[in-house]
Amino acid sequence: MLLVTGGCGFIGSNFIHLLRAERPALPILNLDALTYAGNLENLAALAGDPGLQFVRGSVADAELVAALFAAHPITAVVHFAAESHVDRSILGPGVFVETNVRGTQVLLEAARRAWAERPGRFVLVSTDEVYGSLGPTGRFTEATPLDPSSPYSASKAAADLIGLAYWRTFALPVLITRCSNNYGPYQFPEKLIPLMIQRASQGLSLPVYGDGGNIRDWLHVSDHCRALLTVLEGGAPGRVYNIGGDNEVANLAIVRLILGALGKPESLIEFVADRPGHDRRYAIDATRIRRELGWTPRVDFAAGIAETIAWYATNRSWWQAIVSGEYRDYYERLYGGR
Ligand code: NAD
Ligand code: DAU
Repeated sequence: MLLVTGGCGFIGSNFIHLLRAERPALPILNLDALTYAGNLENLAALAGDPGLQFVRGSVADAELVAALFAAHPITAVVHFAAESHVDRSILGPGVFVETNVRGTQVLLEAARRAWAERPGRFVLVSTDEVYGSLGPTGRFTEATPLDPSSPYSASKAAADLIGLAYWRTFALPVLITRCSNNYGPYQFPEKLIPLMIQRASQGLSLPVYGDGGNIRDWLHVSDHCRALLTVLEGGAPGRVYNIGGDNEVANLAIVRLILGALGKPESLIEFVADRPGHDRRYAIDATRIRRELGWTPRVDFAAGIAETIAWYATNRSWWQAIVSGEYRDYYERLYGGR
């Protein structure tokens, strides 16, 4: 059985959909706390699937996690559960340490105890943000020193190091992945692309941080999920795998692309105060996963972003339900004084 943590979030739910299509016989246990970012709607199409079980709870709840390992024949973990938004980590770092650092250690420890009896594999889903910021040239390799900028990325870097320590000290088969920015369906509309799509659709202003020249290396979520499956099934324990699609785009270019696709005017763009500690550029060197495991991205950015914009237009009720709730309070707190 595979334990997926955070399976009700953006990437976790896409991963479960991929598994259901490609590994239909694999039983999955989805542990998710259903924080503001967790949404059971993301898995609604799989309701009633006998091979998919859901438990609401926190990865930081050591008793619950130990009980799950005792009650189920878990032999693999793909650990997505995290506080994932950089801006929220600036407003309140504490929960990032609790979930991303302590929660990861709780899971690792439960796996270590359970897998003394049966072997298993633990994929820790990390991020390229642990490497910090690049200048105009160069790319992150797995040997790039960790230099995180935000409480979010620092908490992810800490989790990575604890994971690697569990491999080195206890021989727990931990595999770390560090992917660049994802886009696609079911992304919570606080992140750049869905935020801009939903606000542009409503004719609202689009808050671009700083000069809009920050660069991210965008990868379709389905390509990330395929890479994770590849690492789960073929990666070497104790190894780190960068994941990225060689697709660097400046924020302003993305915002303009969205406006163009939706037929909205560029006058909606509003330059606002920069994010503190804002990383300038990310670029991933994914040579290792390409050469060693034969993974390669399938979705071309032009097609992927067009399809993504169309998905948010078709599934307007999905994001409207979010925008009308807690998210609105959060938006006011973050952008109110900007
Ligand atoms: P998300 O915020 O959309 O989803 C996070 C999920 O984790 C939610 O379902 C939430 O309810 C759950 N969760 C939060 N705290 C929990 C807890 N204590 N116990 C159990 N569940 C909890 O995040 P995402 O964008 O899907 O990211 C998933 C993972 O991928 C994260 O670890 C993130 O660091 C990593 N990552 C994200 C990206 C990206 O571009 N989004 C890129 C690289 C890596
Ligand atoms: O690189 C991987 C990371 O990508 C993941 O680890 C994180 O979980 C994920 O949130 C993402 O982090 P970013 O900070 O890069 O993503 P975000 O969508 O928040 O911002 C993308 C860029 O857009 C960044 O340069 C900040 C900018 N931005 C963002 C928001 C929300 C704006 O200009 N305006 C905004 O309102």
